[in-house]
Amino acid sequence: MEKLVINGPSRLQGDVTISGAKNAAVAIIPATLLIDGVCTLENVPNISDVKISCSILEKLGAKVTWISEHSIKIDSRHIKSTSAPLDMTSKFRASYYLIGSLLSRCHKAEVGLPGGCKLGARPIDQHIKGFEALGASVNTTQGKIVASASHLIGTSIYMDTVSVGATINVMLASVLADGTTTIDNAAKEPHVVDVANFLNAMGADIHGAGTDMIKINGVSKLHGNATYSIVPDQIEAGTFMLAAVASKGDVVIHNCIPEHLDCLTAKILEMGGEVEESGDSIHVWCNSRPNKTNIKTSPYPGFPTDLQPQAGVVLAIADGTSIINESIWESRFQYTAELNKMGANITAQGKSAVFEGVDFLSGAPVYASDLRAGAALIIAGIIANGETDLYNLDHIDRGYECIEEKFRKLGANITRVNEE
Ligand code: UD1
Repeated sequence: MEKLVINGPSRLQGDVTISGAKNAAVAIIPATLLIDGVCTLENVPNISDVKISCSILEKLGAKVTWISEHSIKIDSRHIKSTSAPLDMTSKFRASYYLIGSLLSRCHKAEVGLPGGCKLGARPIDQHIKGFEALGASVNTTQGKIVASASHLIGTSIYMDTVSVGATINVMLASVLADGTTTIDNAAKEPHVVDVANFLNAMGADIHGAGTDMIKINGVSKLHGNATYSIVPDQIEAGTFMLAAVASKGDVVIHNCIPEHLDCLTAKILEMGGEVEESGDSIHVWCNSRPNKTNIKTSPYPGFPTDLQPQAGVVLAIADGTSIINESIWESRFQYTAELNKMGANITAQGKSAVFEGVDFLSGAPVYASDLRAGAALIIAGIIANGETDLYNLDHIDRGYECIEEKFRKLGANITRVNEE
């Protein structure tokens, strides 16, 4: 079993470069199924969710070629199957994008139920509502979702809840539909915009991505023959920003889009950190113990739930009592039990947690319950006194590229060890 051995405390200092966005990549890769041609993706993060997405595409008949460390060429001209097996789809959440893509391209999809982080109930009723409104019939049977349509026809869809996945999936399903589709109460996250930009670069006609009303005028074909660069990962950038504050460090984060992180910047200033933006870089530093700060997660442009655990580490050692209210996922506080093993004083109940700031954390054996919990526990290990052994690295490798190398370059004492 692999583990990360982290010896702290370390003060992070230096430069780090952010990879392409996981949540955009895992939507754009299945979106290439819509293209009757070849396209090239750049700034692709080299993470396990991307590798499994590519393997599924190959299983469906696409040809995927890595042309450099972060670029892939995908040829989806000859799709031979509309069925994505459960043993592959259960490995990650975003496999649900295969439904919208296959439905759109082939009018048929059989996709094993999606897996991913266990953050509580993760319904897909709004995805299904959208597909059905477009004219598809959708059934869940024997661990898979089966969708089919003789014809997809544009329509108006109101999302009952703001959902990134449902917004993107309905966008994918409606790109080649007859007529115009509108998605009202759409998610506005940067990766929703990135998927729309990618599809438009391939010949789609989508307007309003980034607002709560997206309009998709169906086109007959997407042409491919284009190169698209995936947006930088807002959550990875935010993870390093919070690591800089937690370690009272001084870090310059390159290849990011500062405005995607405005909400986090505001919170870091409340925590007592300093932030300076310049082009595609953010400089974050903190010279004193962080201040207590209350946080409530909400859809973009609110505070991202995917940065909540990393922010929780800062609040665990802040001066005073902070409260986090989590409004998206019901089981997002599993990491707090691990932080308490390291000496934190956190009481989590339901969707809120009270952080009584302690003077320091101490190293301990801890387990990542999900991807972002894993990132939070790395930060905790870096600032804690002594050795932290972090297990369940599969979660972390799903979404962070070379995470220990990046932290090591900033001065962390962190090593991956294969423990028999
Ligand atoms: C995506 C991100 C995930 C992030 C989340 C919220 C990907 C691959 N994953 O997940 O990292 O934590 O956005 O920013 O992009 N909901 C319903 N019905 C639905 C769909 C969602 O009730 O059909 C609810 C969910 O239970 C949740 C909320 O809507 O409470 C938001 O979920 P959603 O935005 O869909 O999350 P994901 O797309 O799964």
